[in-house]
Amino acid sequence: MNSAKEEVYQQCQTQIQALCEGEDDGIAKMASVAGVLHNEMADFFWTGFYRVVDGKLVIGPYQGSVGCLRIEFGKGVCGTAAATGETQVVEDVHEFPGHIACDERSQSEIVVPVRNESGDLIAVLDVDSAKKGAFDELDRVCLERILEDVFAGPVIP
Ligand code: SME
Repeated sequence: MNSAKEEVYQQCQTQIQALCEGEDDGIAKMASVAGVLHNEMADFFWTGFYRVVDGKLVIGPYQGSVGCLRIEFGKGVCGTAAATGETQVVEDVHEFPGHIACDERSQSEIVVPVRNESGDLIAVLDVDSAKKGAFDELDRVCLERILEDVFAGPVIP
């Protein structure tokens, strides 16, 4: 814990834990995560989930301008994260082959796979920024930690 950004992530995690305590509905939890992160984190221009539904990514709870509804596995940054199971950190979306531009103001992006307690991929969290290079290793570690805590951890009644 040594940067201001990490501190804000920690505060978000605490707030999300409190909101989601005892909650087992995935959509309710996604809405809470998107709501907290979007409003607390600087530079989060679009914050939301694409859920895995019948082998495709379908829009879930989000905050920001209108997002596209469906993304194929392997397409764009979200589809790449879903297909590889690996977090994608994109400094400049214009350099990412096949990037899907839902809002032309987006300049950089991070997409984190979301797994349930069985390790199944249930969604991806997509965050866009209107600034280039807004995301790095710290964002990856902190977002992965929050998502694991909320979606892969035990439900504490
Ligand atoms: N840019 C994403 C598509 C989703 S929107 O940014 C909300 C992608 O390339 O997968």
